Amino acid sequence: MEFKHVSILFDECMEALAPEKGGVYVDCTAGGGGHSYGIASRLPEGSRLICLDRDDDALAACRKRLAEFGDKVTLVKCEFSSIGAALDSLGIDKIDGVMWDLGVSSYQLDEAERGFSYMNDAPLDMRMDRTATLDAAFVVNNYSESELRRIITAYGEEKFAGKIAAAIVKKRESGKIETTLQLADIIKGAMPAAAKYKEAQHPAKRTFQALRIEVNRELDVIRPSVEEAVRRLNVGGRAAVITFHSLEDRIVKQTMASLAEGCTCPPEFPICVCGNKPKVKLVTRKPIIPSDEEIEFNPRARSAKLRVCEKL
Ligand SMILES: C[S@@+](CC[C@H](N)C(=O)[O-])C[C@H]1O[C@@H](n2cnc3c(N)ncnc32)[C@H](O)[C@@H]1O
Ligand SMILES: [Zn+2]
Repeated sequence: MEFKHVSILFDECMEALAPEKGGVYVDCTAGGGGHSYGIASRLPEGSRLICLDRDDDALAACRKRLAEFGDKVTLVKCEFSSIGAALDSLGIDKIDGVMWDLGVSSYQLDEAERGFSYMNDAPLDMRMDRTATLDAAFVVNNYSESELRRIITAYGEEKFAGKIAAAIVKKRESGKIETTLQLADIIKGAMPAAAKYKEAQHPAKRTFQALRIEVNRELDVIRPSVEEAVRRLNVGGRAAVITFHSLEDRIVKQTMASLAEGCTCPPEFPICVCGNKPKVKLVTRKPIIPSDEEIEFNPRARSAKLRVCEKL
C-alpha cells in the first residue's frame, strides 16, 4: 500500500521550528516523513535531522521518502520517550528543534490489517510497533470489566463505557472476540439507539481510540519525552507538538506550562524554596489550529492543535 498521509499544520510547524537556521533537529514521530521532508529540505548543509518512530513500516516509508538527503538524515527505531538514549547512541548532546505529531498516521488507520479501523474487518491488533507484546485482542479478551470501563471512560471519554464494557465481557463468555468489526458490532449493540443516531461520529470511534491508547501506552510517554527533549535543546531552540484530542492536548499544555513556570513549590508556600527557574517560554499561549481550508482539504486535521515553546 502506498504510504499516504497529508501532513497536518505543515507550514505552521516549519515556521515554528525554522529549520533553515540549521543545527540538529529531531522528528519524534516521523511516520511517512511528511514533516521530516519539510525539515530536511530546509536544513542548510552540515545540519542533521534525526527521525524517530516505533513502527518499522513507517520507518521504511520514511527512509525511502528522505533518501535524497543522504546522511543528513538518520532514522532510529524507538519509542520517543527514549529520545535521550537515541541521541546518546548517536553521540548527540544538544539539539536545536524537536517536534511530535502525535497519534496514528493515516497509513496505520487505512491499512486494514493493522486493526486500527472500525470500518474494515481485521484481527484486533492496533500495535504501532508490531513487535510489541500487548495488542487489542489481549485487552478486549482479558481485561476485567472494571478495567475495560476505566480505559473506555478515561481514554475514550465515552459516556456509555459501562454498557460497552459489560457487553464485551458478556460476548466473550461465548468465545474470543477476534476482529474489529465483531467488536464494532458489540459496541453498537451496547449503545442506546438514540445516542447512536444523534451523533455524527461512528459509535465505535471513542472505544477504538481508548483501546489504541491503552495498547500503545500513548499518554504516559508524552510528558517525559517533552521534558527530556527540552533538557537537550540549545537556548532559543523550539519544541512543537501537534495533538489530536483533548487528553493529549491537556498533557502538552500542562507540561509546557510547568516548564515555563519553573518553581515546583506547593502553592501554599509563601516563598519559593525549590529555586527552579523557568526552562522555556511559551511561544503559543493559545494553540495554533488548522485553517478552514486545511480542514476542508483534510478532515483529519479537524481536531489538531499545535503548541510551541522555546528554550530559555
Ligand atoms: C501522525 S503520524 C506522523 C506523520 C508524520 N508527521 C508525517 O507528516 O508523515 C505519527 C507517527 O508517530 C509514531 N508514534 C506514535 N507514538 C509514538 C511513540 N510513543 N514513539 C515512537 N513513535 C510513535 C506512529 O507510529 C506514527 O508513525
Ligand atoms: Zn519554588
